[in-house]
Amino acid sequence: MNELVQEIEKLKKEKNAVVLAHYYVNDEVQAIADYIGDSYYLAKVAVGLEESTIVFAGVKFMGESAKILNPEKTVLMPDANADCPMAHMAEIERIEEVRKEYDDVAVVCYINSTAELKMHSDVCVTSANAMKIVKALPNKNIFFIPDENLGRYIAEKVPEKNFIFNDGFCHVHKAVTADMVSRAKEAHPEAEVLIHPECTLDVLELADYIGSTSGIIDYATKSDKKEFIISTELGVLYQLKKNNPDKTFFSAGGVQICPNMKKVTLEKVRDCLRDNTGVVEVSDEKREKSLKPLARMLELAK
Ligand code: 13P
Ligand code: SF4
Repeated sequence: MNELVQEIEKLKKEKNAVVLAHYYVNDEVQAIADYIGDSYYLAKVAVGLEESTIVFAGVKFMGESAKILNPEKTVLMPDANADCPMAHMAEIERIEEVRKEYDDVAVVCYINSTAELKMHSDVCVTSANAMKIVKALPNKNIFFIPDENLGRYIAEKVPEKNFIFNDGFCHVHKAVTADMVSRAKEAHPEAEVLIHPECTLDVLELADYIGSTSGIIDYATKSDKKEFIISTELGVLYQLKKNNPDKTFFSAGGVQICPNMKKVTLEKVRDCLRDNTGVVEVSDEKREKSLKPLARMLELAK
């Protein structure tokens, strides 16, 4: 074990801390995490931890959600500037407009969103549970924020609902084109194509499997196939290769690297634990109002 890892392990014990990491962070950070998962798993696991401090190796909305769900705990972000641009891609004014326009509307908020947006929403979802939750809602009209691509994918799967879309997107997934995926398929005809639903619909049409990061990892791990084309942030390769040393994974093309997730380094994990920096603060009002849609998600996704 290298010195930095030893230092982190020692600090975790001293500070009664636990490290949660998303599959998109750097490999060495995933390696020291106590819990790794997709956004749904990480929100769930954050509730009911015994440790008093959570280090969230991920982007801001993840640490913020953990704090909202666990106000009594200290939540630390190794890099407070690691923020998801899509989390800001919706407007409160537009939510109010849509609420006036449709009296029976549910504002469904992808967890990749600011606490302000959550405050004005009826329920949160992640890519792993959005379909189940939208189906379970009594409302016919669904205003899906901020991600248009995940919204359009769910709308196709739940045709009985009327969707109103918002034009937010993930720049990492949007950069993958159908042309890139088609070329990857030509180069690796035996491979199964696994795609995250933040990709555009024309890309999703080329998939053998569509799902969250955990869904993609589980699918590849259980599959009898030996080759896979991956269309999501390439941090998932760490767990994919660990679980499947005999299988081969190809990128669908392009860059597929989230610069914000990659801001989280082992040094920054050590520093925030040692110096108590990157403390996530959420005001009482914001917390109370944004807790409702998050708690409703955890309830409806069960
Ligand atoms: P999931 O891990 O929930 O699939 O989310 C992907 C993502 O883009 C997180 O920022
Ligand atoms: Fe946001 Fe996309 Fe990065 Fe996820 S991969 S944090 S959605 S920019």
